[in-house]
Amino acid sequence: MSGPNTEYDPVEVTPLKAEQVDAAVTEALAAIEAATTLEELKEARLAHAGDRSALALANREIGALPPQARKEAGQRIGKARGRVNQALAARQVTLEEEREARILVEEAVDVTLPWDREPVGARHPITTLSERIADVFVAMGWEVAEGPVVEAEWLNFDALNLGPDHPARTMQDTFWMEPAENAIVLRTHTSPVQARTMLTRTPPIYVVCPGRVFRTDEYDATHSPVFHQVEGLAIDEGLTMAHLKGTLDHFATAMFGEGITTRFRPSYFPFTEPSAEVDLVCFVCRGAAVDADGATCRTCRGEGWIEWGGCGVVNPRVLTACGVDSQRYTGFAFGMGIDRTLMFRHGVEDLRDLFEGDVRMTAAFGTEI
Ligand code: PHE
Repeated sequence: MSGPNTEYDPVEVTPLKAEQVDAAVTEALAAIEAATTLEELKEARLAHAGDRSALALANREIGALPPQARKEAGQRIGKARGRVNQALAARQVTLEEEREARILVEEAVDVTLPWDREPVGARHPITTLSERIADVFVAMGWEVAEGPVVEAEWLNFDALNLGPDHPARTMQDTFWMEPAENAIVLRTHTSPVQARTMLTRTPPIYVVCPGRVFRTDEYDATHSPVFHQVEGLAIDEGLTMAHLKGTLDHFATAMFGEGITTRFRPSYFPFTEPSAEVDLVCFVCRGAAVDADGATCRTCRGEGWIEWGGCGVVNPRVLTACGVDSQRYTGFAFGMGIDRTLMFRHGVEDLRDLFEGDVRMTAAFGTEI
């Protein structure tokens, strides 16, 4: 700031000269006009009306003028700052209006969109498939039976003719509840429901039991320590392997469509005799073993068949152990993997997708009631 000077003529102080002031105003107005956003206008305000702006600095010079010169200089600067401030205010209004208008367009909310776009939950596909499976059997007059997942060793094994030295009873396969002397397991299959049903009811018996089962398996794309099976049990007079085959063919067709039937391969289960592995006609190549281009079918690896579960005619020893007259009655039983069935039906390639609780997986199946 210049020192006091009685001889002072404002015209002589450069920042206060009319041309300088006008130039500062012109520059300020141009900058204000050029600002196309509120941020740019803020910068223009700082540069041309802020403490360090040319007009603010000129204003400070007024104090150093002789009293007679202050009025004119004050008026000149005052008018100049007034014009700049007015232009700033006007531009502010314009830019705010523009912003409002833009927000109205850009952030418009379409109130006519469906209101239920918040994700709603869906039932787990294993639950819905279990119910569908049960429905297939209920439609044939069967009943749905249930049993506990924490099961007595005797029902899970002994009653089913699984002697104490059967390999399936080793610690590798079974989760034992502590203390071990209580002889309680997490059921390794749904077959104890067979035993429970026979012990509590009198034939004829036609039941299905979908449920959770447990084995000490690794957790990978095709194994899980927790999985799902559906058990079927029929006990009546005169039941044969043919009834079993017809029932499973119907079940396969209900799950996979017309033409998808089953075949039996000899096998062994202590609780059935004879026993069989059940295979399905490959639902991709439909038994042709090759795909549309003549290449080996990747789903069944050229077999034309896919393994689905186990089955057999109930071993008379099991009937006897469960209080059923094995002279009068015969029966058949089967057990299928529900998870496997779901993977086949829906092309799920990794079993873990069914257990990891990602709602995107579940929601894709929608909600079936
Ligand atoms: N319980 C057998 C399993 O888990 C399957 C099965 C059920 C086999 C009923 C025959 C009869 O492997």
